[in-house]
Formats: sequence, structure tokens, C-alpha cells
Amino acid sequence: MTATAAHQQAAASAPVSTLANPADNYSQTDWNSAYGNVTTETEGWVETVEGTIPPDLQGTLYRNGPGRLERGGQWVQHPFDGDGMILAVGFRQGQAYLRNRFVRTAGWLEEEAAGRWRYRGVFGTQKPGGILANALDLRLKNIANTSVVDWGGNLLALWEAASPTALDPVTLATRGLSAMGGVLAPQEPFSAHPRLDPGHHGRSRLVNFGVKAGPRSTVRLMEFDPQGQLVYQRQDRLQGFAFLHDFALTPNWAVFLRNALEFNPLPYVLGRRGAAQCLRSRPGGRGEFWLIPRGAGAPVVLPATEGFVFHHVNAWEEGATLVVDSIHYADFPMVEPEEDFRHVVFEKLPPGQLERCTVDLIHGHVERRRLSERCCEFATVHPRRQGRRHRCVWMAVAQRQTGNGPLQAIEKLDMETGRRWTWSAAPRGFVSEPVLVPHPRNAAEDAGWILSLVWNGGRRASDVVILRAADLQLQAVLRLPLAVPHGLHGSWSRRDTTPPAP
Ligand code: CO
Repeated sequence: MTATAAHQQAAASAPVSTLANPADNYSQTDWNSAYGNVTTETEGWVETVEGTIPPDLQGTLYRNGPGRLERGGQWVQHPFDGDGMILAVGFRQGQAYLRNRFVRTAGWLEEEAAGRWRYRGVFGTQKPGGILANALDLRLKNIANTSVVDWGGNLLALWEAASPTALDPVTLATRGLSAMGGVLAPQEPFSAHPRLDPGHHGRSRLVNFGVKAGPRSTVRLMEFDPQGQLVYQRQDRLQGFAFLHDFALTPNWAVFLRNALEFNPLPYVLGRRGAAQCLRSRPGGRGEFWLIPRGAGAPVVLPATEGFVFHHVNAWEEGATLVVDSIHYADFPMVEPEEDFRHVVFEKLPPGQLERCTVDLIHGHVERRRLSERCCEFATVHPRRQGRRHRCVWMAVAQRQTGNGPLQAIEKLDMETGRRWTWSAAPRGFVSEPVLVPHPRNAAEDAGWILSLVWNGGRRASDVVILRAADLQLQAVLRLPLAVPHGLHGSWSRRDTTPPAP
């Protein structure tokens, strides 16, 4: 048995701390109890245990995240290596209907049949058999686990290193790999962070990118109309290694922040580390803004500030200035092979913080300032503000006011007044990404609802909470008959996926 496998087996059976954290009053056991396999694929009407579902809330919440974390007794090295499982909660006339299905990728089918891992994971999960079994095996398993979006007649399960997997938007049955209407080459990367342009160029568009990283990196920008037809694309080669997880969109620019990272593939090739474990901050390095025009013109490259960004919130143009709101970290949170994700010490990690970069396109200056101290992730704005100046941001935040901690609350921040509203699931609840659902008849920026999947540490299962977007007043809690691990991104669709009323 290799050290890694032994470590993983020990981790799987190790007793976990039951001590409450004195600063936050959460228990690590409540938090990490979310990490297990999803064992059922289910569908049915969902019980509302508190409040009532607003009758105007009509459509479907889709959400993606790792649902399979163990095979043959071996746990993933990091949850991001788990296979994608889609959750869909359809709302109609005050009722909610749940479905969940695994994305049946080729790798998932193969490993389900084998009962063990047969591919290495990007975040360090190794095949059984030690270094010799893993060295020089550079095959990628498309795990389709990062995001999900309803576009062009398909529900697309997204994973940034490969092509999307198309599903039936109602039944969640897997249709197969999608080339986006012949646009993508076989297994061409297609990011898990498409942006929805609300109509800056006429009809709405799904705008996305794919990166091929190397000493020079290629960024392909692609824009699709609501039928899924490609309406614009370009491809640019830029100097330097690029790890690009997300981007921001304005009417005229696709905004990328290239973090100052370096990639040493040797431990990956030799079977000692996952590819993502070979990323390191470049000492003293500064990032760059890569600004790619959505039309004619060459990309603009500008020096950015230090630190690391996974996720952008929104961006807009003010004349020759771009304003870009993002969640910044002081450093790249590294994934060490010897660490057990269940015992992560939050306090030792840099917090994500909402910051604003103002990019002067004429003089090439970038100014950055902090908008909020509180540790946050998964921030969002109203879909119609995408690419326009926004006033309101909703985000998942730690319960504590400073430093890092698990995400336990949802916060709304009014950028003009600085006023904040908070709904907290603490001490035993842990929130995930807030998804904003616009009100069907009220165009105000904060009219509508916030939906979030919440890990309920008390009953070791998942709830869906519905909050009023304006003031985060709790509207309803739905008790799901599922235990869904802490996951990643979701989206809202106006599609009705409910069957006839019970
Ligand atoms: Co992301």
C-alpha cells in the first residue's frame, strides 16, 4: 500500500473531532459529515418543513457538485475529484419537485462497472497500485462536476478541462458529450463559468471560454444564441501559463485575471501528485489582466495586483475604465498531497474577500480596494446587471466577521449605502452558492429570491432554503431526502420540470 492510499484509508476511518470551534461555534464534525457518497437517485415532491414556497417562484434550480467520493474503499484526495451529480428542484404553484442523477460520463460508467477508481484525479486522487500504476498515465476523466446550465435545449454539465456533457433538462438523463453544435473539437476544454449576456448585443447570449495552457496559452472565446448557435468566436495566444477558472463580461470585453502561478508538471507525470497539486504561486509574482475584445481588436494585457482569484462577481465599463469586482485571496490555496480535506483548518487559510479593481484602459493603471472584510465565496448579482453597474451583491459568507471559516451564512451587500443583510444557518448549517431568481413581475435589482442548498449538520442531510432577495427573510425550508456533499455551482432556469400536481 502506498503512503497516499494508507493515508486515505486512515482518513476514512479516523474519528473526527466533535469539539465546537470556540470562535464560530460550529463543529468540524457537522461540517465534514457532508462528505459521503450520494447513494440514491431519486425523484418526488419535496416536503416544506418551514414557511411556504412563494407562488411566484416558478422554474427550476439546477445544481452540480461531486456526488461520488469513494470507490472500493478508497476516498478521493480532494472532493473536487468526485463525479458530478446534478440536483434539480422544480417549483410550481407553491410546490417543489426534486430529481437527482449522476452525470453518466464514459469514466463514471467505466468506474461504476469496475467498482474502483481507474483514472487519476486532477486534485490528487490516484489509481490503486501506487506510483508505478500512476506514473505517465496522463489521461483525464471528464468528471462533469462543476456547474450546470440550461441552454440551447440541453442541460450542460460543465467541467473546465473538457467538453460539456448534455443532459435532458427534465429527466436529467445523460445524452452524451456535447460539441456545442460542432464548435468544439473532441474533448476541447469548455469552462465551467459561462456568463449570460442579458442582451448587450440584441438577444441574450451564453458567453464562455476554453483555455489550453502552456508557456503560451490559448484562450478561445465563444458566444451562443438562445438556440445554441455560435454567433461569435475568437482565439488568442498570450504569453505565459494561465490557470483561468472564471472571467467577467462587459458589453465590449471578456475580462480575465491571470494569476501569478507556475506549473511544474514533473510530480504529476511521475505519478506523485495530481495536476492541480503542481500549481504554485510564483514568488513575488504579479498577475495580469487579459482583456479580450468581444469584436475587432487585439487583446490588452495589463499588470494586475498580487494575490489569487477564482471567481469574479461582475464587471462594467465607465468610458475608458473597467470596473471588476472579484473575490481575492492573499495567496493561492495549495492542495497538499498529505492533507486530509475533512480536517482542513480554516483559520490557517487566507479568506476570500470582495475587492474591486478599477482598470484605466488609457494609462494602463489598475487600482484595487477592498469592499468587504468578511470571508466570502460564490458571489452573484442580478442576471440583468451582468456587464452593467450593479448595486447589490449576494454571497456566501463565514459566520465570523474576520478570518477564514466555513460558509454558514448568506449576505446581501448594498454597494451604495454599505448596508448589509444576513441570513445565517449557523451553528449547525453550512450554506452553498446563493442563486438569485428574479421576480417575474418586478424588475427591481433586489426583487426575487435567493435559493441555496444548505447542509443540515443536525440531520446529516441537505435542505433547500428560500430567502427573499431584498432583505434575506426566510421564506421556506425544504427538507430533501438526500445527503449532498458540499458542492459547486448552480443556475436558475424558467423551465417547468414538475410533473402534473400530486
Ligand atoms: Co467556480
